[in-house]
Amino acid sequence: MTHRRTRRYARTAATLAVLALLVPLAAPASAQTDLRILMRQKLELAQRLFGAVVLGRLPAVQRDAAELVRISETAAWMTAPTPEYFTHADEFEQAARDLEAAAAAGDLGEVSSAYMTIVETCVQCHREALPRPAP
Ligand code: HEC
Repeated sequence: MTHRRTRRYARTAATLAVLALLVPLAAPASAQTDLRILMRQKLELAQRLFGAVVLGRLPAVQRDAAELVRISETAAWMTAPTPEYFTHADEFEQAARDLEAAAAAGDLGEVSSAYMTIVETCVQCHREALPRPAP
């Protein structure tokens, strides 16, 4: 291999490396992608919470409910929502706060009903906010 060709390869490799670094900068995560990531975290937390609720593991319930509150505060400003969306987001956040409080108070009956309210708020918001699945 001649020197010149080696240099050209080196330059091409360097250019490709720089391009590879720039790709993520050129395509910043959109608010929609961020919202999807948060929603998947919600799903994971809600699934984990199901286990903690049915087993009465209240410290774990309290911890995960607090995390749901935090996520719902972040998610609320990520869309350009309708008034209905805000109402659902509020209901969801309130239900997560109720779950956290019930776990802190050691009230398993309240924990169970607050968890069910959370599931209902997921469904209600999705019923309006998600596109209809194909039949
Ligand atoms: C206030 C409204 C609202 C509430 C409450 C809500 N979601 Fe969502 N969720 C959305 C919207 C809007 C999308 C669509 C996001 C997108 O595709 O841009 C979504 C999408 C999702 C997705 C699909 C994400 C993907 O990968 O495309 C999952 C999973 C999800 N939500 C889980 C949950 C769970 C679990 C709960 C309750 C614990 C919940 N959501 C509560 C509004 C809500």
